[in-house]
Amino acid sequence: MKDRKPDAPLESIGEWDDDVLRRYPAEKKAQDFRDYEHASPGVREFYRLNHTRQTYAFVQEKRARFLPRQQRKMGVWQAVEFLNTLVDQSDPDTELSQIEHLLQTAEAIRRDGHPRWFILTGLMHDLGKILCLFGEPQWAVVGDTFPLGCQFSADIVFAEFFAENPDAQHPVYQTKYGVYAPGGGLENVCMSWGHDEYLYHVVRDFLPAEGLAMIRYHSFYAAHRHGAYDYLMNAEDRSLLRWVRAFNPYDLYTKSSQRPDIAALTPYYQELIAEFFPDEIAW
Ligand SMILES: [Fe+2]
Ligand SMILES: [Fe+2]
Repeated sequence: MKDRKPDAPLESIGEWDDDVLRRYPAEKKAQDFRDYEHASPGVREFYRLNHTRQTYAFVQEKRARFLPRQQRKMGVWQAVEFLNTLVDQSDPDTELSQIEHLLQTAEAIRRDGHPRWFILTGLMHDLGKILCLFGEPQWAVVGDTFPLGCQFSADIVFAEFFAENPDAQHPVYQTKYGVYAPGGGLENVCMSWGHDEYLYHVVRDFLPAEGLAMIRYHSFYAAHRHGAYDYLMNAEDRSLLRWVRAFNPYDLYTKSSQRPDIAALTPYYQELIAEFFPDEIAW
């Protein structure tokens, strides 16, 4: 690790996304799912912070702060541009900017002939990363997400770091169902805090349930890749999870060095946004 801040072990938040891609390569190699050993020291430290500090109480605090959505008012395209001002230590010559990742994802969905709400979901799915611009640390913005208030699944990457999580000592939080009813539905489950959960609350009045599930659960790899936590889900969650799985390859496997022509694509996406969203929404 170079001169990274103790709270910011990743060179950029994109380093987490890149590591997810390393774990789930397009060409499936059998042991890669469990290949944590080759994670960089920064990624490892990132997960240590994430898994020890994301507690049930921590998420309640973040919800109280961000769910009233009093940070600012702005339009969706404005949020895309705002996210793109995120400056970190990543190398601009080799790494995609945030806007390029969003456009590559959306364009791949569009090329495959999917509905317009699906394309828009692709464009928007990472806008919750603006939490970084509100001063939130990396481990509270990105990373695989997981339920709190019940047992940590062994299917979560670097699950061993949960040993140091205060919730691991809690008598109820480490039972199988914890504070939840069996099959009670993900809607009622407190997920670890980050860009997924935050954005879901920002856009929940504007997109169809399938798009909202893609946004809310796209980093819930333990569930959508490993089938964990099925016992918390209801029938609707299981059918929505199919859409989350349909979305995931567009997020992971569309990163290309061929950069999208942002200026040429802007009018199309502004029109698409206007179809679903008012001029400004509360963030
Ligand atoms: Fe994401
Ligand atoms: Fe993404």
